[in-house]
Amino acid sequence: MYTGCKINIVANAIDRHLVSDTRNKLALIWEGEPGDMRTFSFFALNREVSKFGNVLKALGAKKGDVITIYMPQIPELIIAMLACAKIGAAHSVIYGGFSVEALAERISDAKSNILVTADGGFRRGKPTDLKNIANEAMRRSATILSCVVVKRTGEECFMESDRDFWYHDLMSMPIASAKCETEVMDAEDTLFILYTSGTTGKPKGLVHTHGGYTVYTSTTFRYVFDYQPEDRWWCAADPGWITGHSYIVYAPMINGATTILYEGAPNYPYPNRWWQMIEKYGINILYTSPTAIRGLMRFGSSWAERHDLSSLRLLGSVGEPINPEAWKWYYEVIGQKRCPIMDTWWQTETGGFMITPLPITPLKPGSATKPFFGNEIDVVDESGKSVKSGEEGNLVIKNPWPGMARTIMGDPEQYIDKYWKQYKKQGWYLAGDSAKIDEAGYVWIIGRIDDVLKVSGYRLGSAEIESALVSHPAVTEAAAIGLPDKLKGNIIHATVILAQGISGSPELENELKSHVNNEIGPIAKPAFIVFADSLPKTRSGKIMRRIIKAKVLGEDVGDLTTLED
Ligand code: PRX
Repeated sequence: MYTGCKINIVANAIDRHLVSDTRNKLALIWEGEPGDMRTFSFFALNREVSKFGNVLKALGAKKGDVITIYMPQIPELIIAMLACAKIGAAHSVIYGGFSVEALAERISDAKSNILVTADGGFRRGKPTDLKNIANEAMRRSATILSCVVVKRTGEECFMESDRDFWYHDLMSMPIASAKCETEVMDAEDTLFILYTSGTTGKPKGLVHTHGGYTVYTSTTFRYVFDYQPEDRWWCAADPGWITGHSYIVYAPMINGATTILYEGAPNYPYPNRWWQMIEKYGINILYTSPTAIRGLMRFGSSWAERHDLSSLRLLGSVGEPINPEAWKWYYEVIGQKRCPIMDTWWQTETGGFMITPLPITPLKPGSATKPFFGNEIDVVDESGKSVKSGEEGNLVIKNPWPGMARTIMGDPEQYIDKYWKQYKKQGWYLAGDSAKIDEAGYVWIIGRIDDVLKVSGYRLGSAEIESALVSHPAVTEAAAIGLPDKLKGNIIHATVILAQGISGSPELENELKSHVNNEIGPIAKPAFIVFADSLPKTRSGKIMRRIIKAKVLGEDVGDLTTLED
């Protein structure tokens, strides 16, 4: 805790660069999927952020409010985040791939009055339709009073008078003055909330603060990626997730780095899109997920080999364990055996890297290696005893660290319950992952121990998928599990029980898949739906997803004596 200290992350991410040589350096290089490009120096970014900060104030935003941002990957997403932080409002960014219900429930939970969105973005050559999804979400959750809309695709969308305003109109009005004071914040004031999936159906809004998050993200970035002032850094994530918040937006900007943002799909129009970007912008460090690597690897090496990737110096991986085959391809074909791979283990909750190599660390493919400076990490059994080396157990963090989430918005009990209860006596943080530590002290992450799935590196709760299924009138009960998948890490398998008188059919299966797609988003769409008469449950009514999984995979279902039926 940094109690009593004063700071604003924007004073570090922008303001201090305006009085140094960094002022005219590029802060952001953005490329749209259609190939359009925009760049912002720190000076230019400051103007946009200040102007939009004043627009938000004119719409009634004040210190302490939560402003929801639901955007494609365009510069205005970053401008909106920084503008919120600058005026002391917390941002709540909702991933642009989420759909109506996911957006509506996050707006309601945060009691947000202002929504910043866009008409859409481009993905695989087609415009996506964000504003119409936002319209339906605003209908379901009535807290939004003003909605600012960036025109990106130019597609038609419904604008409600007195509530919806075009970004460019507001930014050209006298209210959008380029002079905006950076609000002085207490170090423990909320910088943002970011929703993530847990074991309940309701997403948790984790709270990160101005002080600790500034310190932790900027330090981890500086050391793990050996950041040098001339580097061009590309974190190919979406700013809508913690990876993007920490390592596209805040950490690079605090370090005065040039950060890259790309709008679209890695394989559009061809699977060389990313390699073309590395060549074109002379990117030195690439940070991405195993899913993205596996997705590009399947097109073969020739797409990468036709590009000059000699600017690359370091590579990074995040989000799920990287399998040795993908590691090898990334190392040999993309890094040309020259670039160490920083396999960084961390979470939305941790704010920044927790277990990670440094560029000098000897690597073992598939291991995130050792704790970052200051962290004490262990793998323990249920009682807290360290397991023997090579044995599986619960991953715990034994010390506090600056970037840790401070609470869950509106639900401090759940925060204690979920992360701090099991090892209360010892005061340790329970990460929710199982892991092993080998004899050399290297940490090997195995996967989640709770009902959280990692689909293409995206974090989803079984319960969220189940509640989306049950919101369909034909379904009375559902159980969602993750099945191993070579490409995506996990794919979703759902078992559903239908309402009386309704029988299963391929049509209904497809309808339920699109229902989940429309409620949560394409990432949550089940790959399989099977109809059943009952679900395995304990006598207290808890669905035994472990048993369904074993059954589907043809494995031993284990002890069934605790089952109700
Ligand atoms: O299971 C771990 C996995 O991702 C989870 C956290 O997900 P999220 O909050 O969405 O944050 C992802 C980006 C930081 C963890 O509990 N995970 C993350 N990084 C790794 C990983 N699993 C293995 N290796 C990693 N490097």
